[in-house]
Amino acid sequence: MRIKARAKVNWTLSVLGQRGDGYHELDMLMQSIQLSDTLNIKEAGELSLALDGQAQVPSDGANLVLKAASLLREITNTKRGAQIRLKKAIPVSAGLGGGSADAAAALVGLNRLWGLGLSEKDLAALALKVGADVPFCLIGGLARARGVGDVLAPLQCRTGFHLVIVKPTIGLSTPAVFAAYDAMPHKPRGPAPDAATRAVTEGDASALAGAMGNALQPAAILLRPEIAVCIQALEHMGALRAQMTGSGSAVIGLYATPDAAARATAACRRIWRQCFCTRTVDHGISIT
Ligand code: C5P
Repeated sequence: MRIKARAKVNWTLSVLGQRGDGYHELDMLMQSIQLSDTLNIKEAGELSLALDGQAQVPSDGANLVLKAASLLREITNTKRGAQIRLKKAIPVSAGLGGGSADAAAALVGLNRLWGLGLSEKDLAALALKVGADVPFCLIGGLARARGVGDVLAPLQCRTGFHLVIVKPTIGLSTPAVFAAYDAMPHKPRGPAPDAATRAVTEGDASALAGAMGNALQPAAILLRPEIAVCIQALEHMGALRAQMTGSGSAVIGLYATPDAAARATAACRRIWRQCFCTRTVDHGISIT
């Protein structure tokens, strides 16, 4: 079984406050993009994970794929195994939800492979235990995400926004970015997602450019100033708007046409190693 696990971008990210357990209450507009990792899964006696290529992710129990698989076995009391091969294309520690997408793909794939019959609701509850972005990656497409990212309202999805994605610096850890945010004397709140939601559902890229925003961006720039340079560079290269996605360190540039995005990607490749020309899609996971 071959599964595509798609990355996500944040059109908006607003921080509403902090909960007693340290997690932050968020309000976000997120959308799946074509850029994807691939999981190959087959039945086996044991549960194992192997990485294809030079992936900068762990292959042990710290990998969210194994964490998801182990939770699934525990909750359903199954002893079945699987050989999972993971091919990474989504940059890691980038705010693109790569690890979360892989975990969501493992949940869906193993639920089917092992014939467990868990409902979407059951899988969503398990997903949240693996990570705050995993429930979104399960449903994919376009959604408003509240709570810690788990209270999801799926939205009618217009696809075909053209993006250039650059990871201009080494990755950022999500807890480190939230800690830098918490230490800021004047914490930006970030935009409510309503205007961006209207723009995306109407397919209006210029209105979307005006409505984007990410409350975590200033904190991430304090940790990695290269992010600000990259945002400026993408806007000089014709982006309608550029901003950081999630907790970074990747930057997304929104372009009016596929040609403009392709030209900017070619220019970016002369400066940064990790550059991708991609577009929004209406689903997060697909099984072949
Ligand atoms: O749930 P996940 O493991 O992806 O979150 C990683 C870390 O990011 C958490 O331990 C927490 O420090 C921070 N986080 C947060 N608020 C959120 C999501 C994540 O503070 N809504």
